[in-house]
Amino acid sequence: MTLKLAQRSRIAPFIVMDVLRAANERAAAGGDVLHLEVGQPSTPAPKGVLAAARRALDSEVLGYTETLGLPALRQAIAKDYARSDGVALDPARVVVTTGSSAAFVLAFLAAFDPGDRVALAAPGYPAYRNILQALGLVPVELPTGPNERYQPTIELLHKHAQGIEGLIVASPANPTGTMLPPQELAALTRHCEAAGIRLVSDEIYHGITYGTVARTALVSSNSAIVVNSFSKYFSMTGWRIGWMVVPEDMLRAVECLAQNLFIAPPSLSQHAALAAFDCRAELDANVARYAVNRALLLEELPKAGIERFAPVDGAFYLYADVAHITNDSRELCRRWLSEIGVACTPGVDFDQRRGSATVRLCFAGSTATIAEAARRLRAWRR
Ligand SMILES: Cc1ncc(COP(=O)(O)O)c(C=O)c1O
Repeated sequence: MTLKLAQRSRIAPFIVMDVLRAANERAAAGGDVLHLEVGQPSTPAPKGVLAAARRALDSEVLGYTETLGLPALRQAIAKDYARSDGVALDPARVVVTTGSSAAFVLAFLAAFDPGDRVALAAPGYPAYRNILQALGLVPVELPTGPNERYQPTIELLHKHAQGIEGLIVASPANPTGTMLPPQELAALTRHCEAAGIRLVSDEIYHGITYGTVARTALVSSNSAIVVNSFSKYFSMTGWRIGWMVVPEDMLRAVECLAQNLFIAPPSLSQHAALAAFDCRAELDANVARYAVNRALLLEELPKAGIERFAPVDGAFYLYADVAHITNDSRELCRRWLSEIGVACTPGVDFDQRRGSATVRLCFAGSTATIAEAARRLRAWRR
């Protein structure tokens, strides 16, 4: 007898992880692969973090911590908002999580009920949509384009998202790298507060911007949920450690959910992350390399016939229009991997309806890797 599979489990794959598996299979079979698919730094955690992890291994029990995280880490995170944004944040509002991924689960469970509608930009990070669906919530996609820098606007909300309970924004965004100018973020925040819409601000790419600075939504809102992570700027994806800042009246609910769902975030990663805020020189050098890689791709890809991109204000992605090459971005990415060993992510991961004519290239690798990928793409087009 075939037993049932829950309806809620029928969510779309996170296609980039499927591409990663295919790329790893090719590498295991002896093929070479240039990884421009997964959105992660190609560097290890900074040296200070590694040293702190070694010390913790030698001296700490590494049992469960308090559910909301090590008090010293919550304080360090809160203190950094004073440095970066001039915000005096009560450390009690900081919740350390198992990557920002766990923060989304906690935030959505704490803020929304089954059936609630939550708006988000398309293209956008696929896990927002897929986590919402798995939790019985209804993602409401805002079809964004170059006119609104691929970001939500109040007009789009009026047009496509009546009756929503929540709005997710990300600035810089994945897959486009575009940002909301501060006045537009503030306008969206005001709109959400006036309309009783819970704003969830994903700030995971803060610290990785080019010629501009990303400001936290905490500057303009006390009711927003702010999500962040040690994965990207801090170069610690595999450590699975992130955080969120929640409104005071949501704190206990989030704590009870986290106690039951996760008990506590990983202890070793928390001890290590304590050192992360003192590693800025090394981390800023990573960002300087991303800037070089970004400039290189913007210069070289047009020579490969790929010349229309979302404006890359931040993060480490180029979201490229390939409509003149294909109307099947999955097939194009499959061909690039098998024919020239360049792994990229098809746009359908980020925009199910319109992503068949776009691809995302991650330029967080070494400059040599990015230059070689550009060279192969040029040769492939000839
Ligand atoms: C926009 C965005 N948010 C959240 C995440 C999840 O990050 P993590 O769970 O490693 O903190 C990612 C990962 O790529 C992302 O791009």
